[in-house]
Amino acid sequence: MNEIRIHHIGYLVKNIEKSIELFRDMGYDVEFETVYDEWRDVDICFLVKDSYRIELVAPRSKSSAVGELRKKIGNSPYHICYIVDDLDKAIAKFSEFHYVIWQDAHEAVALNGRRVAFMISGQVGMIELLENTVKSDV
Ligand code: NI
Repeated sequence: MNEIRIHHIGYLVKNIEKSIELFRDMGYDVEFETVYDEWRDVDICFLVKDSYRIELVAPRSKSSAVGELRKKIGNSPYHICYIVDDLDKAIAKFSEFHYVIWQDAHEAVALNGRRVAFMISGQVGMIELLENTVKSDV
């Protein structure tokens, strides 16, 4: 699947403001201000350093989509997000490689409403697929 490109690495944190400060100390710049994603009950902030983009994800509650996961693995990277041209086709393709849906396709407020879906593989772990409806926005 050479046509997929990495968009960001998702990183779970407990306290988004404190972690932004520490990432800034390491030379990261805030790409977009923090956004609250009500559907997933998380605060999200995108940071960039060198040619890398990191997405800080802070669950607001245990019932958040990733609340239990953060408790389990702590502050840690947990997914790689790939840009795809057609989300539904990409989901079908990854399913052929034994990935299963972890979270159905939905619009992501922190990504201008572009659709994302999360899938899991027993060998690779969690990935996010982001539909590239804005071609210049990579
Ligand atoms: Ni992500």
